Amino acid sequence: MKDVHLFAVFVTFVIVSLFSYYSRSNRGENSGMDSDNFINVGSKNGPVANYSKPRKILIYTEFFYSGLPWPGLTTSEDFTQFKGQKCSVTNCELTYDKNDSMSSDVVIFHAYNMPSSKEMFRLQRQRPQHQVWVYFHLENPIVTSYIAPHKHRSDLDNVFNWTMTFMRESDIFHPYGFYLPLTKGERSSVPSQNHAIGKTKLAVWLGSGCGQVLDERKVRMMYIHNLRKLIPVDIYGNCAKYFHQTVRDCPKTADDHPTPECASLLKEHKFILAFENMNCKDYITEKYWCNPLELGLVPVVMGGADYKALAIPGFYINVFDFSSLKELADYLMFLDKNDGEYNKYFEWKKLYKVGGCLRGYNMASHYPWMCEVCAAANNGSLLSKPKFYKKVQNFYDPEKRCGIQYSRLKEIISEAFDNSQKLSKIKSNSI
Ligand SMILES: *[C@@H]1O[C@H](CO)[C@@H](O)[C@H](O)[C@H]1NC(C)=O
Ligand SMILES: *[C@@H]1O[C@H](CO)[C@@H](O)[C@H](O)[C@H]1NC(C)=O
Ligand SMILES: *[C@@H]1O[C@H](CO)[C@@H](O)[C@H](O)[C@H]1NC(C)=O
Ligand SMILES: *[C@@H]1O[C@H](CO)[C@@H](O)[C@H](O)[C@H]1NC(C)=O
Repeated sequence: MKDVHLFAVFVTFVIVSLFSYYSRSNRGENSGMDSDNFINVGSKNGPVANYSKPRKILIYTEFFYSGLPWPGLTTSEDFTQFKGQKCSVTNCELTYDKNDSMSSDVVIFHAYNMPSSKEMFRLQRQRPQHQVWVYFHLENPIVTSYIAPHKHRSDLDNVFNWTMTFMRESDIFHPYGFYLPLTKGERSSVPSQNHAIGKTKLAVWLGSGCGQVLDERKVRMMYIHNLRKLIPVDIYGNCAKYFHQTVRDCPKTADDHPTPECASLLKEHKFILAFENMNCKDYITEKYWCNPLELGLVPVVMGGADYKALAIPGFYINVFDFSSLKELADYLMFLDKNDGEYNKYFEWKKLYKVGGCLRGYNMASHYPWMCEVCAAANNGSLLSKPKFYKKVQNFYDPEKRCGIQYSRLKEIISEAFDNSQKLSKIKSNSI
């Protein structure tokens, strides 16, 4: 998400480097809910949904500064389709009216905009037994611990039934973007193309979080700094000034797309650094899903996610696949001279297409999460096994979720640093 949301961060962050994956062990289990409000019990295959009974979905909070309704999601119709294609389950009604809080089946809360404790206690008191509460957040756990500190809020304990985040183990998976297989017809009409043509520059980084505050970002900056000693990396945006460059802006439109001028600047490059600001589990943001895909630049990725599992097959170069900065730099230069190898990174276009990516606050075009919420709101086997999170911040714990490969990254950088020290010594000796 936007680095802008870090404005509230004033504290030095203590780094944790943990690889541990969190189990769901601290999730509360609660059985014996009266389920007839949702489902018809007794069919041979277990409970089934009554799809003619509407489900009311209440979006209770803003999405950061989105206002209400969320952009792109104004009507129930918006909520039951994705880019014109109907969801598999369409009996959901969308409301933003807080007066509907007692008659809604599902209530969605965005973590950053969580209502006050007083309001949460009131809602919890009035809440009908069958109502499902969803904890929604796309920001990573480290940033969340600053901008939405929940640690000391006991009113958020034991109230959320489902999580909806970029983490795959969320009840509702909600990534920043996705891809789809091409249909047979589409597959037969993919034009072959040399993707190296017209790209006269090597690599670009569009940076706005420059590491003044959080250590992980500082490390990202140091990595880029050292990479630039080996290969050219153009820098646009806020961070250019930290690289002794004049600040060159690559501006965005109101709906968070690069302007045509910015897009054509970016498109001059073969590679774009899609470095996440934090290395957290499953955390792949619009930095990967938007510009690289839409503009056709091969993303060089750095992050805590398993890109093999989550990114488009073959469409990334992972810094962690290289033992040193030099090795990565050499590889990028090799690809630069070898169009055939470079084009292999675009092979995926013969099989897949982009499904969407999150830009700004538009909540309707990056991923069909609405369809998933609606399906879940009708899913008898989910609803007949009631559950809730004892402490939702344990699910979103930075110590368990972030800092992935962080010490490795520091090693790579300090090694590069040593080498450049040595290099400059050799140079000064030879003068
Ligand atoms: C399904 O829901 C509709 C609308 O609430 C209701 O009229 C109908 O009786 C329900 N059907 C079953 C089988 O429960
Ligand atoms: C919600 O209820 C309050 C109090 O009854 C009322 O003043 C307000 O107009 C209602 N809001 C909507 C959107 O209907
Ligand atoms: C209901 O939820 C379960 C558990 O997540 C899932 O395996 C199943 O496919 C869902 N059923 C439908 C109809 O979506
Ligand atoms: C949701 O959580 C509440 C506790 O806050 C619990 O009473 C209820 O049974 C849960 N419902 C589902 C469907 O998980």
